[in-house]
Amino acid sequence: MHVVIEPKILYFGTPVVLISTCNEDGSANLAPMSSAWWLGQSCMLGMSGRSKTVQNLLRERECVLNLPSSDMVDAVDRLALYTGANPVPEPKRRQGYQYEPRKFELAGLTPAPSDLVKAPRVTECPVQLEARLVQVHPFHEPSHLTALEVAIMRVHVDEKLLIAGEKHYIDPDKWSPLIMSFCEFYGLGRKVHPSRLATIFAPATAN
Ligand SMILES: Cc1cc2nc3c(=O)[nH]c(=O)nc-3n(C[C@H](O)[C@H](O)[C@H](O)COP(=O)(O)O)c2cc1C
Repeated sequence: MHVVIEPKILYFGTPVVLISTCNEDGSANLAPMSSAWWLGQSCMLGMSGRSKTVQNLLRERECVLNLPSSDMVDAVDRLALYTGANPVPEPKRRQGYQYEPRKFELAGLTPAPSDLVKAPRVTECPVQLEARLVQVHPFHEPSHLTALEVAIMRVHVDEKLLIAGEKHYIDPDKWSPLIMSFCEFYGLGRKVHPSRLATIFAPATAN
């Protein structure tokens, strides 16, 4: 039997992304987020306008989307409840957020220069996507939320994730994203069924 409920959040499970952006003084900010979905060569990011990340994105119009693997969960969790915004916006302060200008150090992660954008990549993340901001869509409610459409300009991938013998295909059996579901961390389970859709995106040799 189904029951009608009023959940506080609707986080049904999405991959965690570490977004790196450039601050006004050229230093880097790094923020965990998980309201992200992908279509074609674009990504839509759902973020609070109270975050330093959104302020930086609107000004610089570029970022890196770093995808941590599930075994990087400690580093991701260390970044929780910290913001690069100073002063800390009042609603965030009430939630327990603190200002932290050195997020890479806090998380024990290593910045690496990007090719096309000023923001650094996260060396430890197996997937690093350099991106530029294309459009911003305000949410109706709550009004501080924004949907930010970014276009992926360059994809950096740890070669260990590639299908053997292929240059441009990530093997989903080798990629282990970190998933946030109802604010808790998960990895993926095993593949549950062969996918008919997967044939469309498979390497030509497999067709
Ligand atoms: C795993 C995880 C996922 C999160 N997902 C989101 C999200 O999807 N959107 C969002 O606005 N904040 C999300 N947050 C909270 C942000 O990290 C928070 O807004 C923070 O202030 C961002 O850092 P910044 O202010 O330095 O940009 C998430 C936090 C964690 C730890």
